[in-house]
Amino acid sequence: MSEFELIRGYPKYMRESIELVEETRERRLKEEFRHLSLEEREELLKKYHPDHKEGTKRPLKIGPNKGMIAPHEVIDLLEAHPLIKPEQIDLSQVDYETDILIIGGGGAGMTAALWAVYSGVSPEDILIVTKLRLGDSNSVMSQGGVQAADRPPDSPTRHFLDVMGGGHFANDRQLARTLTMEAPYMMKWLEELGLMFDKDEEGNMIELWGGGTSCRRMHSCKDYTGMEIVRVLRDEIRNKGIKCVEFTSAVELITDDEGKVAGAVLLNMESEEYSIAKAKATILATGGFGRLHIQGFPTTNHYGATMDGVILAYHVGALLRDLDATQYHPTGAAYPEHIVGLLITEKVRGGGAQVVNKFGEQFVFPLEPRDVEAAAIIRECWDRNNGVETPTGMRGVWLDTPMIDLIRGEGAFKKMFPAIFRMFSRVGIDPTKDPVLVFPTLHYMNGGIVINERCETTVPGLFAAGETTGGVHGKNRLMGNSILDYLVFGRRAGINAAKYVKNVRIGKLTLDHVRRYERWLEEAGIETERRAPLILPDYRGKKVLMRRIDVL
Ligand code: FUM
Repeated sequence: MSEFELIRGYPKYMRESIELVEETRERRLKEEFRHLSLEEREELLKKYHPDHKEGTKRPLKIGPNKGMIAPHEVIDLLEAHPLIKPEQIDLSQVDYETDILIIGGGGAGMTAALWAVYSGVSPEDILIVTKLRLGDSNSVMSQGGVQAADRPPDSPTRHFLDVMGGGHFANDRQLARTLTMEAPYMMKWLEELGLMFDKDEEGNMIELWGGGTSCRRMHSCKDYTGMEIVRVLRDEIRNKGIKCVEFTSAVELITDDEGKVAGAVLLNMESEEYSIAKAKATILATGGFGRLHIQGFPTTNHYGATMDGVILAYHVGALLRDLDATQYHPTGAAYPEHIVGLLITEKVRGGGAQVVNKFGEQFVFPLEPRDVEAAAIIRECWDRNNGVETPTGMRGVWLDTPMIDLIRGEGAFKKMFPAIFRMFSRVGIDPTKDPVLVFPTLHYMNGGIVINERCETTVPGLFAAGETTGGVHGKNRLMGNSILDYLVFGRRAGINAAKYVKNVRIGKLTLDHVRRYERWLEEAGIETERRAPLILPDYRGKKVLMRRIDVL
C-alpha cells in the first residue's frame, strides 16, 4: 500500500500520527492545561501572529488616515483609482429616491432596515442594495454562536471586560459598553422573531464557553447559528415589505454640495448598467475583507467579502481605524485540499475538544483568545516542527473531535455539529472517530470605519454597522461578538438614520470627492492600474492558490 493511499479519509503516514492522538486521549481527558500568562501571550503574538510578520504592511499615503499602517492588500485598494469617472455618470437621472439607502444585505443591513421601520420610516422609503442575494454574507455562514450575558453569575460588565481584554484594550470603550449592555435585549428580540436557540429540557438556553471569555455565554443554534438568524431576519424583511435590489453593487457614494452623503452610484452586475440612488441617509453594511486573502491565507469568508464599504467611506473622507489587525481563526480546515480554510467552529473547542500536535500532545489551552490560539498553532507547525504535513505541503495540528462524544456521550458530536459532521463525511472523514487537521484561516476584519454609538461615521449622512466598522473589538474580536455586533449596531444604525432623515435636506448631487481622490493619488505620486472597490475577488493567477503559506 502506498503512503498516500487513503484509509478512512487519511493517508497512512497521517494515520500514524492519529494513533498517537488516540494513545494520549485518555490521559489528556484528565489533564488540566493552564492558560498562558499575559506576558506569555504577548510574546507569542509578537513572534508568531501574522500581524507581526515583517514586510507585510506599509503606511497609507493619502487621505485623512495618511500614515496609517495596514496590510499591503488593504493599502493597495485604498491607493487605487475609484472605479468610475465622474464624467461618465449622469447625476440628474435619479433611478431610486429613498429616505434610507442600505448598502449590504447581510445581518447588519437587514437589522438596520428593520429597526428603521420599527422607528417609523415607511418600508417604501427604505432600499437595500446587495451585490449578491439578500442574506448572502458572512452572517449566514456563522456557526458557533452569539455572546450575551443574560443570566447570573454573568453580567454585561464581565462581558465588557472580556471584550476589552480580548481587544488588547484598544477598543472604543463606549462601543464595547454598548455592545455588551444591549446584548440580552437582542437575544430577546431574536426569540420574538421566532429564532430557535439550543435549549435544555427545561427550556433554559444552553450556553457554552468561547475563547477568552470568563463565563459561559455563547448561545447557538447547533453549528448553523447564522443560517437560523438570517432565516428570521429575511422573513421579517419580507413581511414588512422592505425593498431589496439584488446583484447590484454600490461602486461610489454620492455627496451633496454641502458634503453630506446623499446616496450611491450603483452597478447592475448582470447588465453592467449604472444607476443612481438618491438618499437622505446611507448606511454601509458591507462586511469585511476575507476575500483579500491577506498574506495569502485561505479564508472562511463568503465570496463578496472584499472590503467595499471601507473603500467607499474613505473616498468621501471618512476616518478608519485598526486596519492593521487581522483576525485569523485558529481552526480552519487544513486537510483535505478542497476544504482548506473552511471554518471549524470554536464551539468544538468550547464543547471540550483539544488541539494537539503530531505526537498527540496538547501545546496550548484550547480556549485562549483567537489571536493567541492562532499564534500558538503557527509556532507548533512552523517553528517547533510539530505539525502534520499534508500531501500538498500544508501543515496543521489535530483538533481532537472524538473527545466530544467521550465527554458528552455518544451521538453528541452529530447533534451539536451536524454541519461539520456533514462537511467531513463528504470527504470520507468521520470526525466522531478521527480528529481533523486544522490551521489558522483568515476570518475577520478587526478594524474598519470609525463610528460613534449612533453609528454615525465622521461624514454627515453616512452611517455604518457590522464588520465594516472598527472600534468595537479593538485589535482582536472574541468569538460570538460579530453576530452581536451586527445586531446591536445594525439596530442603532436603523434607529439613528430614521431620526436623521426627519430633518435633513439634500442639496445638489455631486461626485466632487472622486475628483479630490484622484488629486490625492496624483499628489502622492501613486501610479497604479488598480481600481476599487473590488466588488468580487479575482482568482486568476493568484498567490492564494499556493497553499504552502510562508508563515515565518
Ligand atoms: O468559531 C466560530 O464559530 C466563529 C464565530 C465567530 O467568529 O464569532
